[in-house]
Amino acid sequence: MRQETKELIKIAPSLLSADFANMARDIKELESAGADLLHCDVMDGVFVPNITFGIKMIEDIKKITNLKLDAHLMIVEPQKYIERFAKAGADIITIHIEAVKNAVEAIQQIKSFGVSAGIVLNPETSVSAIKDVLPFCDMVLVMSVHPGFGGQEFIASSIEKIKEIKSMITALGKDIDLEVDGGINFDNVQSVIDAGANIIVAGNTVFSADDKKTAIMRLRGA
Ligand code: DX5
Ligand code: ZN
Repeated sequence: MRQETKELIKIAPSLLSADFANMARDIKELESAGADLLHCDVMDGVFVPNITFGIKMIEDIKKITNLKLDAHLMIVEPQKYIERFAKAGADIITIHIEAVKNAVEAIQQIKSFGVSAGIVLNPETSVSAIKDVLPFCDMVLVMSVHPGFGGQEFIASSIEKIKEIKSMITALGKDIDLEVDGGINFDNVQSVIDAGANIIVAGNTVFSADDKKTAIMRLRGA
C-alpha cells in the first residue's frame, strides 16, 4: 500500500528557483532528474508583492520540453489571460479563489480550452471557500506559504487543511489532484503526502540540492 502510494506522487519543481538567464539549461537538468511537471509561477506584482514572468515565457518553455507545464497564476483578473496562457501551452492552469468573482465560471473557462483546471487557496483562506467550485476542478492547490517568494518556511497548519480537502475530494468520489506549494523539504514532505497530497511543488529544495535527481527521489519518498 505504502509503495503504491509513492508511485503516484508527482514532483513539480518550481521554476521560480531556476536561473532565468539559463532557463533552458535548468529545464533540461530537471528533465534528466526525473521531474514530473514544471511548476511555473506567474506573478503580477499586484496579487502578490513580486513579479516573475508571463505568457511568452510559457510559450517559449513549451517549445523546449515535453514535461507538462503547471501554470500557477498569481495575478488579479486571471480570466482576462486564461485563453492566452492556454494557447501558449499551459497543460494545467491554476487560479486563486481570492482573485476571481465567479470561480466556477473561471474554472469552466480554463477547461473550455482543453486544459486541466485548478483552484488555489492562500494560507488565510478557509477550506469552505472552495466547496462550491471543487466538483468542477481537476486539481486543488494548497498554498503552504504566503505566495510571492520561494524559500519560505512551511506553515504547519497547512497539514490540517490538506487533510480536510482530501476528505472533501474523497466524499465527492472524483479524481481530483491535490497539490501543495511552498516550503516543502525532506523533513516535512512525508507529512504532506500522508495528509493526502499527490503533487508536491518544490523550488528551493530541488534547486539548492547538489544532485537534483536524488532530491526528487527523496521528495517522492523513495
Ligand atoms: C510561491 C510560489 C511557489 C514557490 C515555492 O509563491 O508559488 O511555487 O516557488 O518555492 P519553495 O519550494 O522554495 O517554497
Ligand atoms: Zn507556485
